[in-house]
Amino acid sequence: MKIKNLESADLKNKIIVVRVDFNVPIENGKVSENTRIVESIPTLKFLLKKGAKRIHILSHLGRPKGVFDKNFSLKVILPDLEKLLKQKVEFRKDFTPGNSKIQLHENVRFHPGEKKNDPVFIQKLLKIKADLFVNDGFAVSHRPHASVIGLASFLPAYPGFLVQKEVENLSPFLQSEKMEGLSVIIGGVKIETKIGVLHHFCKTADNILIGGALANTFLAAQGFNVGKSFYEESELNTARDILELAEKHNTGFHLPMDVICADEINAIEKVDVPIEDVIGKMKILDIGMHSVKSYCEILQHSKIIIWNGPMGCFEKTLFEMGTREILKIIASQKSAKTILGGGDTLEALKTFGVDKSAFSHVSTGGGAMLKFLEGKDLPGIEALSTNN
Ligand code: 3PG
Repeated sequence: MKIKNLESADLKNKIIVVRVDFNVPIENGKVSENTRIVESIPTLKFLLKKGAKRIHILSHLGRPKGVFDKNFSLKVILPDLEKLLKQKVEFRKDFTPGNSKIQLHENVRFHPGEKKNDPVFIQKLLKIKADLFVNDGFAVSHRPHASVIGLASFLPAYPGFLVQKEVENLSPFLQSEKMEGLSVIIGGVKIETKIGVLHHFCKTADNILIGGALANTFLAAQGFNVGKSFYEESELNTARDILELAEKHNTGFHLPMDVICADEINAIEKVDVPIEDVIGKMKILDIGMHSVKSYCEILQHSKIIIWNGPMGCFEKTLFEMGTREILKIIASQKSAKTILGGGDTLEALKTFGVDKSAFSHVSTGGGAMLKFLEGKDLPGIEALSTNN
């Protein structure tokens, strides 16, 4: 699929509506990790430089229930946005246009029509009276929502530079043949969101390394006792199918050989427990030192590394080692192509003070990146194709 190019659009004196993804973590009423805002700035600055008359920014924040909820108001983003743009931004509670050059509108998900791509809600958004639509919200492009795809059927639609960058950096991994030296690390909790991407990489990667609670489901599927650890009983067959697929394609599928366990999340009970010794009330909360060593060994010999999802509960210092060490080793692989993505992964970079510049590409997408790598068309990107 070929998508349009913003540089070829006539932007002078145009009113432009830009869909971004400002769904960022908020702590104590402040943005705690601002990568998604930072990454939207080049497009917004470009539109200003090219003489746009007005820019209207649309986004969601969190998962409100289709009504106003002050906990999810986008007003919280304003200070960061103004600081990064070095410019005043007008905050609009609805979708009527104000007078300022740049306007940030309230959370689109305060309206039930957003998620339903409801024509009535699209008409409401069109009250902005925009001439052009730009999608720069890569991270939300897997959602067929009104502000993501609906506007693109009424207005000339272009990708922003962030969307363009993500598509360019992730597209090389869509091929169906084996990619020599490709290692994929998948962590996190639920298997459901990772099935597609695991299927894809079982066919194309040399090695898949699993961590997080996701590993527990695979370990349980192999017959290991995972004690009181979180795992998905209903997905054991799915896990077995994935293990079989990896074997069929000669892909190394690696699970932790030792783990860090606790009865309570705040107290380490046992460090580096061999996986066959997990019993009773033990909860697996991180991968152990031997697993880290063996994963690092594989990563040191990889030419391409893709990582999504933490290895353990890294938010707690006691269980951060796996995620921290894997992150450090990826950051040090200067001759490998390194791709990272997912909200937790961005948080991990911040927690461990690792700069994004240490990697070839840090995706702003979580679910969107996984869907894209799985080879699925993202509706928000489809809507920008040159055929539309
Ligand atoms: C994300 O954080 O992955 C995107 O902002 C999409 O959010 P959603 O999963 O609530 O649609």
